Amino acid sequence: MQVPAPDQPAAFMDAYRRHVLVCTGGFCSPNRRGRELYALLASLLQREGLLFGPTRVKRGETPCLGVCAGGPILVVYPQGIWYAGVTPELLERIVVEHLRDGQVVNEAVFHRHS
Ligand code: FES
Repeated sequence: MQVPAPDQPAAFMDAYRRHVLVCTGGFCSPNRRGRELYALLASLLQREGLLFGPTRVKRGETPCLGVCAGGPILVVYPQGIWYAGVTPELLERIVVEHLRDGQVVNEAVFHRHS
């Protein structure tokens, strides 16, 4: 483990339940629609009370998730549930049904970690 320099704060992170990664790269979706989804995700998580506390959902954007087709692509960890073709409407369902209520939106899943 790397020891932080004396003038740097030690790393710390509050607990969280899930981590969502959104591909914002240009290969899996035209016009980088993932960027719009990533911005929308923040407001949806806030609306559903998922930004803080024991149900907290972390979010991150990435330039590529190694799929590069059928996007925008989004993955939810630690379950390893991969969604394709994510529209704003589908993102809202993922936030409400999956991230808030724990029910995977099965019809939009194209891969799961075994
Ligand atoms: S560019 Fe989105 S998965 Fe590669």
